[in-house]
Amino acid sequence: MGIMELFSSLVIAVLGSCVLFLFFRLRNLRGPPCIQGWIPWFGAGFEFGKAPLEFIEKARIKYGPIFTVFAMGKRMTFVTEEEGIDVFLKSKHVDFELAVQNPVYHTARIPKNVFLTLHERLYVLMKGKMGTFSMHQFIGQLTEEIHEQLEDLGTHGTMDLDNFVRHLLYPATVNTLFKKGLFLTDERKIKEFYQHFKTYDDSFEYGSQLPEWLLRNWSKSKRWLLALFEKNIEEMKAQESAGHSGTLVQAILDIVEMESCQHSPNYGLLILWASLANAPLVAFWTLGFVLSHPDIHRTILEGIASVFGTAGKDKMKVSDGDLKKLLFIKWCVLEAIRLRAPGVITRKVVKPVKILSHTVPSGDLLMLSPFWLHRNPKYFPEPDSFKPERWKEANLDKNAFLDGFVAFGSGKFQCPGRWFALLEIQICIILVLYKYDCTLLDPLPKQSCLHLVGVPQPEGKCRIEYKQRT
Ligand code: HEM
Repeated sequence: MGIMELFSSLVIAVLGSCVLFLFFRLRNLRGPPCIQGWIPWFGAGFEFGKAPLEFIEKARIKYGPIFTVFAMGKRMTFVTEEEGIDVFLKSKHVDFELAVQNPVYHTARIPKNVFLTLHERLYVLMKGKMGTFSMHQFIGQLTEEIHEQLEDLGTHGTMDLDNFVRHLLYPATVNTLFKKGLFLTDERKIKEFYQHFKTYDDSFEYGSQLPEWLLRNWSKSKRWLLALFEKNIEEMKAQESAGHSGTLVQAILDIVEMESCQHSPNYGLLILWASLANAPLVAFWTLGFVLSHPDIHRTILEGIASVFGTAGKDKMKVSDGDLKKLLFIKWCVLEAIRLRAPGVITRKVVKPVKILSHTVPSGDLLMLSPFWLHRNPKYFPEPDSFKPERWKEANLDKNAFLDGFVAFGSGKFQCPGRWFALLEIQICIILVLYKYDCTLLDPLPKQSCLHLVGVPQPEGKCRIEYKQRT
């Protein structure tokens, strides 16, 4: 090669690199601002992981309505204003199934192909079984189950509020959706179950992303819960052949077994988590808010007395009509969910989408924070106040929430358990406040900023003192 040829090849290579560099810069310029830290793969993971809920609000203030966080090898693009939210909720180019498939594999060991094959069929089934038309079937059993647990609490006592609501709602939910008396038979077993479920739930978010060997206790609890389902699968299915109308989980297992029977315990675990992770926390926050607002507390007690009379009835029944008369309690539950909504919901971008002046590339996880959206005064005036009356504006008769309320997600795959959750929490609040005179012994704690998945937990403890009314 002559010296001239060598020189011109060199010039072409240098120019080519410059063009490529500029091309990528430009492409990047069109992308949202990116917070990526300096550590390869981990990216901004350390700063982000310390208090993710606070991190995203600070990032919004610093970078504007759309920004990308690169952490643990993933690009997460957060949308916080109307245009981005619209894309999140309505675009055909963002996908729920592809966004959750990986966390589902890590937390319940359901392989991608099995998940994608079964997801839509299972969703339709759950939506039907827990739809508004099916709710009346659950009222009687939930009331009885909660009464039974209340008996255990005796005539008076002091308890951690979080344990108090879990004690009422774990058995009521499991016995209703899975099988009566499935797990919670003897005291040692109950304790063991609570411990393993708590470990599994507390680290669910890390477990959904990190390799198992980094989370030994979490993996142990996951295996314990899976083994529990393995042991009980046959029994859960058997109830149906005895002629009862099947439970939700039986119907789910029927579908799973047609496709991949070895994954039945895995689906059992996934539904168990979905049904227990959020609803008891919402009951915690609702009771907490109500008991720390004396006028709201008084209004509720007057409502309960006008429907059921003053206390004294043993195991009173609750009807659909009673619940309608106690609409204010439903408002309180919804208002608690608004203020303690999940930190994020997520979709995978499958084709680049334009938001404001940015292009979000395919492969990004698009993230929307119900928690922060619910604090936007454009949608919710005086967003930080607990104001149940704001729900007067919602068309609850038509099963519509307020504009901007996305605690149950939105679109095609919004939470299929939302009516069941609202129902069990309402019944729980009614029965507790009918039976007991309750006071909080500590101020209501702040929400913890440690997790993004699901309803935020309390940052500290809060005790409740309860005394049976005479
Ligand atoms: C107040 C309590 C609850 C809250 C705040 C809540 C919230 C959510 C949210 C935000 C999603 C994701 C939706 C999306 O990304 O668009 C979801 C999905 C889901 N929820 Fe709930 N949920 C609650 C209670 C329940 C209960 C009691 C069940 C009962 C089984 C349940 C079952 C599910 C299931 C199975 C999914 C996944 C749906 C799918 O795969 O398409 N949830 N929930």
